[in-house]
Amino acid sequence: MEQNPNTARILIITCLLLILGQAATDNDRDFKMCGIWRHGTASRTLKSELNTGCEKIEISANESTLFVRGSITAKCTQSTSFDLESNSLQNQSHFCVFWEPLLDLLIVDVNRKNYTLCKSHGLQENCCTDLSLDKQDTAALYGIVNGSTHGDIIKNDVMKMYNFKGDVISCKEKFCDEVRKIPRGANMIEEVVMKSNTTGRLDLPCAQSTIIEMEEGFTGLNFTLPATKAMPPYMIPSVYLPPCLKSFSRTKPKVVCTYYKNKKLFQGASNSTILDDIVGLSVENEIIKNLPEPVRIKFHHSALPANYTRRCVSWDTRRDNEEKWRYDGCDTVKIDNTETECHCNHLTYFAILVQVEHKTTVRHLKALTFITAVGCAVSLVSCLVLFYWLCKRRRGKKNQTSLVHRGLVVAIFLLCLLFILTGALANIGKEVVCKITGSLLHYALLSTLCWMAMEVFHTFLLIRKVFDTTLPTWIFYLVGFGLPVLLVSILLLTEHIYEVDIYGERKIVPSDDVGNPYRMCWMLENKESLLAHYIINVGLLAVVVSSGAVMLFLVVREIRNRPDWKKVHVAFLSIWGLTCLFGTTWGLGFLDFGPMSEAILFLFCIINSLQGFFLMLRYYALERMKKKDRSFSDGSSSGSSKQQMLQTHEKS
Ligand SMILES: *[C@@H]1O[C@H](CO)[C@@H](O)[C@H](O)[C@H]1NC(C)=O
Ligand SMILES: *[C@@H]1O[C@H](CO)[C@@H](O)[C@H](O)[C@H]1NC(C)=O
Ligand SMILES: *[C@@H]1O[C@H](CO)[C@@H](O)[C@H](O)[C@H]1NC(C)=O
Ligand SMILES: *[C@@H]1O[C@H](CO)[C@@H](O)[C@H](O)[C@H]1NC(C)=O
Ligand SMILES: *[C@@H]1O[C@H](CO)[C@@H](O)[C@H](O)[C@H]1NC(C)=O
Ligand SMILES: *[C@@H]1O[C@H](CO)[C@@H](O)[C@H](O)[C@H]1NC(C)=O
Ligand SMILES: *[C@@H]1O[C@H](CO)[C@@H](O)[C@H](O)[C@H]1NC(C)=O
Ligand SMILES: *[C@@H]1O[C@H](CO)[C@@H](O)[C@H](O)[C@H]1NC(C)=O
Repeated sequence: MEQNPNTARILIITCLLLILGQAATDNDRDFKMCGIWRHGTASRTLKSELNTGCEKIEISANESTLFVRGSITAKCTQSTSFDLESNSLQNQSHFCVFWEPLLDLLIVDVNRKNYTLCKSHGLQENCCTDLSLDKQDTAALYGIVNGSTHGDIIKNDVMKMYNFKGDVISCKEKFCDEVRKIPRGANMIEEVVMKSNTTGRLDLPCAQSTIIEMEEGFTGLNFTLPATKAMPPYMIPSVYLPPCLKSFSRTKPKVVCTYYKNKKLFQGASNSTILDDIVGLSVENEIIKNLPEPVRIKFHHSALPANYTRRCVSWDTRRDNEEKWRYDGCDTVKIDNTETECHCNHLTYFAILVQVEHKTTVRHLKALTFITAVGCAVSLVSCLVLFYWLCKRRRGKKNQTSLVHRGLVVAIFLLCLLFILTGALANIGKEVVCKITGSLLHYALLSTLCWMAMEVFHTFLLIRKVFDTTLPTWIFYLVGFGLPVLLVSILLLTEHIYEVDIYGERKIVPSDDVGNPYRMCWMLENKESLLAHYIINVGLLAVVVSSGAVMLFLVVREIRNRPDWKKVHVAFLSIWGLTCLFGTTWGLGFLDFGPMSEAILFLFCIINSLQGFFLMLRYYALERMKKKDRSFSDGSSSGSSKQQMLQTHEKS
């Protein structure tokens, strides 16, 4: 009578399971039967009698014995008997029987204590599972109360025994099917592999594992993952385990290294593609991170187009609630076009994420580099000529003006020279060379900016006549050549102390030939470099430009009312405009190539590279005006004020 509602319930559950499909049958493979053993208060034993095969398993209980008997195992043929702790007051015990056919593992838990009746020895190909209720016997007083499978009560009555019969299935296949459907399938594979109590190689249709026991005195290990039929051996990832993995554990910990063939176990990589190989690494019962020496995983893959980037990524499925690949903790070492090595300081799942490179490309890069090179060459010659002129006119009272001019000429000369050389030096391919070149180029740029600032300041002093006497010469040298040394040294020290890269090879990708980027040695594009760039370069440029503007304003306000203003203001403004134009563009050219339109980009390149030439033109124009001026009025006070005015033009 009581059976009917129960049967109905089981029917309903079965239907539900069928409707919900395989998602709900997760635990079908493993068997778990629990109940309450009503027993006597005298001594008790747990007995088992196991045989290979796939017939049935019988769980019975009487006053003194809990008995598990059956032929369901793959390897165990044994009878065992455990004496259970007895307590005279206790007349019932909670128990569960766990059967994990994939592992061939049979465990009985009595009052929260586990007894292993059949030990695991690797993963089984075919196994006895899908255990279903067969016969059962009622009892009067002692036996099993509230017997249940997977939490569903079979009977509330006291039963003498339950009998289940099984079916043989290919349990590796089934396991892989299950694993593919759950979000953390990969973790389940690792757990099962860990529990399998084997070392060496384990094969599953969805993954291959290598289990390594780290003995005492483990000194690191190189190994290649097991080859598969589908993959030629040279395509299989290889792994290096550093010795420091061992120190995290006490006894002989096992490392499981799993090679997943099925990317579906790792969904979540949205736009970008994961290359086929995924390698999982874990150490028994440990979460390993911040390794002093990284694990290295070498992936082999097909050649990637040049406009794709590859990066090593990892996915900690145990910790991350959000399912995604992370970039941190792994360095990507591109060995060649078809080999990539990942250096990671923690253990989890690793792969290579391939993304279409979002690097901005520059159109007409060839033309631009050509123009720049020609412009720089012209500038170099101009600088030499100008320097010669300045030295020739050195004697005389304009000593200090000439000094500032010469400083600027030297700085621009250096800048142009290094700019021409940087391409060639970057192609040498030595990191150190590129670092040095990059820092020297940066030094030249900073020095140019500093000398420009000094031109502004010096002219301002002359016009306002703040000091009658001139400043000591060393101050100019200190600011023009010394300050940049300080700034670059600070960056180099930062590089050294914090182990960040600031200078190095930078690639500018032409849009028509992405595989053949233009290399130059300059500041990199990472966070630290950008920060340094914004603080130092942009900051200095801003100081030069804004102080120039302020001083110009002050000067113009002062001399506007002088009688000779009208005569020269056209020349004044045009020369000043020219000065402004080239004075600021060098810096702007370094700001960014990205968002500028092509026409502007061309203009920048032309103007920038011709700086030395413009400097010479400006100097020549000034000299001519001064000469004309001198022939007009002979060193009168108005003449000298005009001269001062003309010097204002030397703002940059
Ligand atoms: C309980 O069952 C075991 C095994 O079936 C048997 O050996 C034992 O004699 C039984 N004990 C009692 C009191 O019936
Ligand atoms: C088990 O012990 C409890 C008291 O601890 C008692 O009430 C109950 O009747 C006993 N049951 C059997 C079957 O002996
Ligand atoms: C006993 O073994 C089962 C199955 O492996 C496991 O789920 C359970 O946590 C274990 N219990 C104890 C107390 O170790
Ligand atoms: C693992 O297997 C070894 C023998 O192969 C055995 O001595 C050991 O007890 C097993 N461990 C477990 C947890 O089953
Ligand atoms: C058996 O389960 C029922 C509820 O399903 C509960 O009321 C009863 O106490 C359980 N019996 C024992 C011995 O725990
Ligand atoms: C592992 O291989 C690398 C090179 O492939 C070698 O430098 C290293 O010494 C090897 N380590 C061990 C422990 O074999
Ligand atoms: C994926 O692509 C879409 C548009 O194609 C874009 O909006 C989104 O930011 C991309 N997501 C990632 C993670 O790159
Ligand atoms: C990447 O380069 C290939 C040829 O090398 C080209 O076919 C493809 O369109 C490029 N993709 C993008 C996004 O630039």
